Amino acid sequence: MKACMVAPGDISSAQVEEIDEPSLDDGDVLVEGLFVGVCGTDIEISKEGYGQPPAGHKRMVLFHESLGRVLEAPADSGLAAGDLVAGVVRRPDPQPCGACAQDQWDFCRNGQFTERGIKGQDGYGSQRWRVAPKFAIKLDASLGHLGVLLEPTSVVAKAWDQTDRIAQRAFWAPEHVLVTGAGPIGMLGALLARQRGLEVTVLDRVTEGAKPAMVRELGANYITSLDDMPAPPDVVIEATGIGALVFDVIGRCAPNAIVCLTGISSGTRGIELAADAINKEMVLENEVVFGSVNAGLRNYQQAAEALAKADKGWLEQVITRRVPLDQWPTALDRQPDDIKVVVDLQA
Ligand code: BGC
Repeated sequence: MKACMVAPGDISSAQVEEIDEPSLDDGDVLVEGLFVGVCGTDIEISKEGYGQPPAGHKRMVLFHESLGRVLEAPADSGLAAGDLVAGVVRRPDPQPCGACAQDQWDFCRNGQFTERGIKGQDGYGSQRWRVAPKFAIKLDASLGHLGVLLEPTSVVAKAWDQTDRIAQRAFWAPEHVLVTGAGPIGMLGALLARQRGLEVTVLDRVTEGAKPAMVRELGANYITSLDDMPAPPDVVIEATGIGALVFDVIGRCAPNAIVCLTGISSGTRGIELAADAINKEMVLENEVVFGSVNAGLRNYQQAAEALAKADKGWLEQVITRRVPLDQWPTALDRQPDDIKVVVDLQA
């Protein structure tokens, strides 16, 4: 079968390769890979050497955002041939820490977790892959290829889930949500906020292309400067990873605000900070700023439900480019109008 192979940090090594059929060690659900989604992490792995191939290998099967159709599944797995599924990314560390022992691998304490297509395990960028039933999330059949959005949606489902838990500390009646960044995470974070009936503002720097109209179609405001926020936000979903923006936002929130950081910064930029003023503001306003990575099983389920009830026409616009398998390395080159680029593993 064909697979998207790369040696981390060596983009010239990115190519389609014939590899062996997936090993039973990966699990007894056999899946025909349909699509994989491309995210910043895949670009960082390929171009900057983030990530790590499976032990003893220089190259790895790339991609962690998956969609496939079940070919074979054990009778008691709750899955049947033909089901649409996406694979969970993270696996607990082999000698589990306290969190991993409770299946909270997204809160792994010792860093020994692995991630399909990122850290220590082959990814889902192959024409067939295997997983254990527990790591295969069943998707509503009506989603079709849009099911490839499950993994990024699980990341924002976790952001909201954690926000809800933090919010339980006191009286909480949020109205305004600010989402920073109109990439896939920002867009899907805004979708989940609108599904909760909240007033949403999305900040991004572009004024052209599909993003402004897509945000408005969701019933949200689109702005390109924090000065244009209609009100101080109660919740912020940060999805740019731009440190300077993060600290700017912290200083502009409503009392008791919860700021969730999901953007993984790739730069090393420094800024001058009014550290005392920020500290004072956070203390006097009970502000919580927290980071959120990856997702637990319950977040994948929440994400599957959110996608199932979302407007399919709107979701369709999130996928801005489809690349056939034999040209997959071109999916790593960012184009100005890209939101989510996917690779068609059967084309
Ligand atoms: C993925 C997460 C992963 C993180 C760190 C993100 O791109 O969506 O599942 O945990 O990278 O490797």
